[in-house]
Amino acid sequence: MNQNAVPLFEALKDYHDRQVIPFDVPGHKHGRGLQAFGEYFGERVLELDVNSMKCLDNLSHPSGVIRDAEELLADAYGVDYGFFMVNGTSSAVQAMVMSMCRPGDKFLLPRNAHKSATNAIILTGAVPVFIQPEINVELGIAMGVTLETVKAGFERHPDAKGVFVINPTYFGAASELKAIIEYAHSLDKMVVVDEAHGAHFHFHPALPASAASLGADMAAISVHKTGGSLTQSSALLINEGRIDRQTVRKMINLTQTTSASYLLMTSLDMARRNLAVNGKAILGDVLAMAKDAKRRINEIDGCYAFGSELIGTPGVFDFDDTKLTVKVTGLGLTGFEVYDLMRDEYNIQMELGDANNILGIMSLGDTQEHVDAVVEALRDLSSRFYTGNPLSFVNIPMSVPQTVLTPREAFYSQKVSTKLREAVGKVSGESLMAYPPGIPIVTPGELITNEMVDYIEFLKGQNTLLTDLADDTIEYIRVIV
Ligand SMILES: Cc1ncc(COP(=O)(O)O)c(C=O)c1O
Repeated sequence: MNQNAVPLFEALKDYHDRQVIPFDVPGHKHGRGLQAFGEYFGERVLELDVNSMKCLDNLSHPSGVIRDAEELLADAYGVDYGFFMVNGTSSAVQAMVMSMCRPGDKFLLPRNAHKSATNAIILTGAVPVFIQPEINVELGIAMGVTLETVKAGFERHPDAKGVFVINPTYFGAASELKAIIEYAHSLDKMVVVDEAHGAHFHFHPALPASAASLGADMAAISVHKTGGSLTQSSALLINEGRIDRQTVRKMINLTQTTSASYLLMTSLDMARRNLAVNGKAILGDVLAMAKDAKRRINEIDGCYAFGSELIGTPGVFDFDDTKLTVKVTGLGLTGFEVYDLMRDEYNIQMELGDANNILGIMSLGDTQEHVDAVVEALRDLSSRFYTGNPLSFVNIPMSVPQTVLTPREAFYSQKVSTKLREAVGKVSGESLMAYPPGIPIVTPGELITNEMVDYIEFLKGQNTLLTDLADDTIEYIRVIV
């Protein structure tokens, strides 16, 4: 296929050129009803914010330019079909779980999955069999899952429908996906992959292999994270056989809007062209910049920029070096503190900080000047804070909590609000997580432990954004009666 084509963009441009008189929604009518927005954001943005119509196709049942654009997406990633998603990768993750499992069906799920996976379980009534990712104790982060862990999961639960793999983790660790896919397929089990942080993998050989290229049944990719499209736009890629496009479309349409944004969809069309046509060259430059930045950061006292040297350690089959990952406890500071200092004192917004590390995402739009600013900020922090006494290790709960009820059972059970510490030994009725990364510390149905509460108290002390409890003050948690 001609990857230079952008059928959706061309159709939208044509619509604009025709100066069509709008007696349809959206009601701002090409911006005349929202002038202050247009004056700041640019009037054309509002002129192009339109709804579906014959010439622009319809995302729910595409048969024209959206289908052409989706076929180009599939061709770019080498899969059978690719769905444009406008409710984020969260909805792609939900559609994957719904397509794999009926209510009551089991599937293997790493405990460090994003909350969209847990939410999918509540929505679908699927039953997670939690499996343990490998833990890097030095860094205090979860890595990928191993083939052995997946094998053991299927041996214990031969009725599980499939396995959910995170490729890569937020920090860039890729699992041994090829071996996992071969093994699962030999049992006729499905492999669905949360590739939220790997939308760019397919376009450079030095990056970890993409789930699509390895034959995963489905992969949810956040094109908006590392593929260059607008925030919230995402894609779901499928290889047919164990699943077909009609079933997946039906599942997507259960929850996806019927008024898909053409700004989001067109950004997907144009981001796909950019990745397919220019991705290799741009990503090659980004990788070179990232590796050089890591080398320079590793010369700074108190900082350890980790990356592909971890390949071969447990749970790290490959590593995405475009993730600017730095362990900062050597500065005598937590990752949370460095994350805040970077923003407050150096005007640099990092992707996340955790107890031990900070993470910067490098992608298609980075410049050497901006990368240098990060390196210089870390150098300055080192001159201010480094004393040779690293912060003592923060103990993060890493083991798989005990599941007493399925997340859905717990979600719909009667609950009572209890002080956090008094909730120890009780079954949680809620999720709680730091965001980002959005990985639940506790999910509905799990036994609350002292270790979890200690960690939550630590996070509160770090002024972290904690989300999803009914009580915004994070003093109380709802437990099952
Ligand atoms: C691993 C992972 N999966 C899924 C998602 C959900 O993506 P979105 O925010 O596009 O809904 C995220 C978001 O950060 C994520 O980190």
